[in-house]
Amino acid sequence: MTAQIIDGKAFAAKVRGKVAEHVTRLKADHGITPGLAVVLVGEDPASQVYVRSKGKMTVEVGMNSYEHKRPAETSEADLLALIDQLNTDPAVHGILVQLPLPGHLNEDLVINSIDPAKDVDGFHISNVGLLATGQKAMVPCTPLGCLMMLRDHHGSLSGLEAVVIGRSNIVGKPMAQLLLRDSCTVTIAHSRTKNIEEVVKRADIVVAAVGRPEMVTGDWIKPGATVIDVGINRVEGRNGLLGDCHFESCVEVAGAITPVPGGVGPMTIACLLANTLTACSRAHG
Ligand code: GUN
Repeated sequence: MTAQIIDGKAFAAKVRGKVAEHVTRLKADHGITPGLAVVLVGEDPASQVYVRSKGKMTVEVGMNSYEHKRPAETSEADLLALIDQLNTDPAVHGILVQLPLPGHLNEDLVINSIDPAKDVDGFHISNVGLLATGQKAMVPCTPLGCLMMLRDHHGSLSGLEAVVIGRSNIVGKPMAQLLLRDSCTVTIAHSRTKNIEEVVKRADIVVAAVGRPEMVTGDWIKPGATVIDVGINRVEGRNGLLGDCHFESCVEVAGAITPVPGGVGPMTIACLLANTLTACSRAHG
């Protein structure tokens, strides 16, 4: 059996199209243009690529994009002052501080200084708590994109066995919360999990978000399972990007699988734009 390939690129284009339609209506009916501010501290090349891509897509859906680039040696006080200014700026509906931040800056402190209503990353402690307690939260973009693809493929996720590999605050933990909210039986596996292959093999849904290239191989996958690969790994001596799943072996066993690239990646930015639209709509009640 060969798995169905879940086309994240096409799905993301559809989501962005719907966002663009809403933006057009907001402008025409209410004279409001959603605005997303992205803050980049330092010159990390990967972060620069992400930020450029976010800015381009923000403009493409008709929103205003505000880029705030600061040198790596920016002080915490200066960064907090910038966030404070964005928090009170009525033209800014979403704020994203690109991570990782340089080591001298306290990431938790910086993230928690963002107005939770403008926290389009869903990383603020208030949004984390709201999600965990099933209340209306800003939901982190990557897990939200994964959930949208899973719902699209399965319809209802109720009762399915889901294994999330990786326990990060950005992906693993919120992914588990979202799957739980959709009534999956959820396990989080990680680097210390014993017999991880057997744990993963129980799953109807596998979400791999560990950052270890090709860790998950086809023999870990239950036949017919859905595999969502969040990994984006660059490996010297290998061309292009590698996922956390070994695609060639997993595709032979899975029922459906996301490719890398062209799977989860494009969905993340589409969900960021959707979150910005949500923040804007809520701000204007
Ligand atoms: N760095 C890597 N992924 C992300 C993300 O989703 N949001 C932010 N702010 N930084 C990141």
